[in-house]
Amino acid sequence: MDKHFLKSGAILILVGFSQLISAQTKIEIVSIENAPIISKHIYGHFAEHLGRCIYEGFYVGENSVIPNSEGVRIDIIEALKELQIPNLRWPGGCFADTYHWMDGIGDLEKRPTIVNTWWGGVTEDNSFGTHNFLNLCEELGAEPYLSGNVGSGGVQELADWVQYTNFKGKSPMSDLRRENGKEEPWGVKYWGIGNEAWGCGGNMRPEYYADIYKKYVTFMSDADVEGGIYKIASGASNDDYNWTEVLMKNIPKNMLQGVALHHYSVIDWGAKGPDVNFDEETYFKTMKESWLMEELIVKHTAIMDKYDEEKKVDLIVDEWGGWYEVSEGTNPGFLYQQNTMRDAMIAGMNLNIFNNHADRVKMANLAQTVNVLQAVILTEDEKMILTPTYHVMNMYKVHQDATLIPLSFDSPSYNFKEESLPALTVSASKDKNEEIHISFTNIDTKNGSTVSIDLTDLKLKNIMGAILSSESLQDHNTFDNPNKIEPKNFKDFKFNKGMLEVTIPPFSVLVLEGKK
Ligand code: AHR
Repeated sequence: MDKHFLKSGAILILVGFSQLISAQTKIEIVSIENAPIISKHIYGHFAEHLGRCIYEGFYVGENSVIPNSEGVRIDIIEALKELQIPNLRWPGGCFADTYHWMDGIGDLEKRPTIVNTWWGGVTEDNSFGTHNFLNLCEELGAEPYLSGNVGSGGVQELADWVQYTNFKGKSPMSDLRRENGKEEPWGVKYWGIGNEAWGCGGNMRPEYYADIYKKYVTFMSDADVEGGIYKIASGASNDDYNWTEVLMKNIPKNMLQGVALHHYSVIDWGAKGPDVNFDEETYFKTMKESWLMEELIVKHTAIMDKYDEEKKVDLIVDEWGGWYEVSEGTNPGFLYQQNTMRDAMIAGMNLNIFNNHADRVKMANLAQTVNVLQAVILTEDEKMILTPTYHVMNMYKVHQDATLIPLSFDSPSYNFKEESLPALTVSASKDKNEEIHISFTNIDTKNGSTVSIDLTDLKLKNIMGAILSSESLQDHNTFDNPNKIEPKNFKDFKFNKGMLEVTIPPFSVLVLEGKK
């Protein structure tokens, strides 16, 4: 078992039961032939200049008493390294289309301030800029994903940013980079061409944005990046299928590597519900919104398939996660919310959905990494805690760059009042060492889901597991009780002659690992 799979010394279990197994849900393995690789980039993150994500989150400044590397908290760096985050999107979100990258380079004292009009109207001093972010990504071993300013920036400004970050030779921008202390370029591959161009990125029509997109990318140089830069078009909000259609129709494939999609599990933009003291009705609605991700991916993919049968253009879900009212007493513009077992359900379900659509979904970015929305990390002064969502991402990281094992099953139902949802999502993969991982998320609040899987063909000898569960859906980690929710070893399954039977408890996330 990967040493990162479960922190606290997992136990190897050899199970040999002979009793007859009676299962409620039979999961079948569909042929693995031609199955896609689950891109590690599905496990990506997003950090915006919003509330306490960058300032007071990642970045405390070099003079802080909190241990830091170039001003970035070392405890956060360590936690994200443990997660093996494959990429980090920055500087926004809506902020990206107001951000002028040149404000954030050079002498700290001379940097201009700007007002962060989208998020709380606070004054931004630009002390965290391009060098801080790209050096951080290098330290994390993560690919940077830069969102360019299309809404209020210019074509030359974005072309210059590409040259500043990527050009090896002599040029005005690479010389400026050297003057600012960075000899070698970072080689940034992933670039977003604006953000939410239909809204905060400029309130554009898709036809207009498609034209603007072509203009911008025409001047973005591929120089010094292996395979060229990877350009991501600002994508649809939720079920705006026309947006995807217009982009796919109007932008030539050689100019487009990815089309984005944003979907948050928000129950009502006017009444988002509390972060912790929610009732089951609110929880059910959140799960319903979360399940919508499946339908959105299927329908946006169908449109992409129409224009791109060969699947050359990827679907990039570069903002997803739960969104509630902010925690009581916090700045409404800062989007700080607690993270409960409900968030673990959103994470487990969505990651299973992404894995199972790995043929088209090649990147996803959870919003957002620290102190904002569905954060994996929360900070308070020198203290830092890991959220239930962090633990799900950590348990699921075993799927990164593994081959999908497609599964087929009929999920039991999670019933609430007159409505019902599929209770169970499952995804499975085989990694480079031939180890098998199966991740289950059961969103039902009362009933366990008993499943059986015939794993005979995989010739597994040992199975071991880790589970994330808690007494109540509202449970969460706090600065006083940071380890209330964390993964535990799980042995409560039967494995006999290749047949696996296991009950996934209510509102829990389970990952099993099988070895030959
Ligand atoms: O993640 C918060 C905001 O949500 C982002 O800035 C924006 O892109 C989206 O609307």
